[in-house]
Amino acid sequence: MRIQSRHYRTIWPHADGTVEAIDQTLLPHRFETRRLAALDDAVAAIATMVVRGAPLIGVTGAYGLALAAAADPADSAIEEAHARLAAARPTAVNLRWALDRLRALLLAAPPLERRALAFGEAAAIADEDALACEAIGDQGAALICAAAAEHPGRPVNILTHCNAGWLCAVDWGTALAPIYKAARDGVPLHVWVDETRPRNQGASLTAFELGGEGVPHTVIADNAGGHLMQHGLVDLVIVGSDRTTRRGDVCNKIGTYLKALAAHDNGVPFYVALPSSTIDWTMRDGVAEIPIEERDPSEVTHISGRAADGATTRVQLTPDGSPARNWGFDVTPARLVGALITERGVCAASEAGLRQLFPDLA
Ligand code: MRU
Repeated sequence: MRIQSRHYRTIWPHADGTVEAIDQTLLPHRFETRRLAALDDAVAAIATMVVRGAPLIGVTGAYGLALAAAADPADSAIEEAHARLAAARPTAVNLRWALDRLRALLLAAPPLERRALAFGEAAAIADEDALACEAIGDQGAALICAAAAEHPGRPVNILTHCNAGWLCAVDWGTALAPIYKAARDGVPLHVWVDETRPRNQGASLTAFELGGEGVPHTVIADNAGGHLMQHGLVDLVIVGSDRTTRRGDVCNKIGTYLKALAAHDNGVPFYVALPSSTIDWTMRDGVAEIPIEERDPSEVTHISGRAADGATTRVQLTPDGSPARNWGFDVTPARLVGALITERGVCAASEAGLRQLFPDLA
């Protein structure tokens, strides 16, 4: 997608063997990139959320393993790098999916060939992700067009949570891809952007993306969605996913479950957009089985933003000594999910629905 009329992906390799990524911790106030030159850089970029979003951490993990293989192609070094990268963030399954795919390829090849193979496979994963997200956009745009036909004469109001746009992936994004496609097709729409405490990916990243694409949007406090739905101001909800179980339970950014409950109570369609790399076929019951990341409580007790002088500043919200906890994700049970939007089509959030679209993966 474009930033200041130049097309960017979120991550890209260089001929010198390094990898460059957009630093998402600085957006929307500063656009800078980071060079990842070694395994340690990739682990840190994922853990500190320089790169974030399920598909993007998968791709970054793959490049991280490639950087490790370039430094030392021995089996033991690859296994150690795999373990360190996988531990950097536990919830989004795309990370482990990409790492497992790369490890299997590398360990089957002679050590001298591993470096080139690894960078080639990481690039392939990145390209596949961009294509999958664009296909999700085409599939989901049809749902937005259908909603527009039901409400002629006014924009379709779509609510989204967190950032599931092109910054969460390599390009296009998941939940925002259908919005971009529909907007480019001329469908009148407006997006309610949940701020998404505590790290505010909605207020900072989603608003940045939508503004860049010229999509009308309004940032709202996280708890406003239910009120808007009660008053008929939301036609549909689209969110992304960090891990979807084989029966269609959806793990996504903390707060997603409450939006799904409010949508269910108000008869608002609740859609989840995800590439197949986000499906965890080994898990069934998302609440019981998905590991939920718990991050540093300082992300709850403090908040960052731009001060009047333009400098980034961080301030404390809570009284000294008040304890805080910081769960990053929650699970929305399949019964609250209207449909899953994937690169191969739209299906029910159920084992049968997913198997029908992905008989080769199930
Ligand atoms: O903690 P983050 O910013 O990595 O969380 C990202 C999300 O929860 C996204 O909604 C999710 O990755 C789905 S978009 C593929």
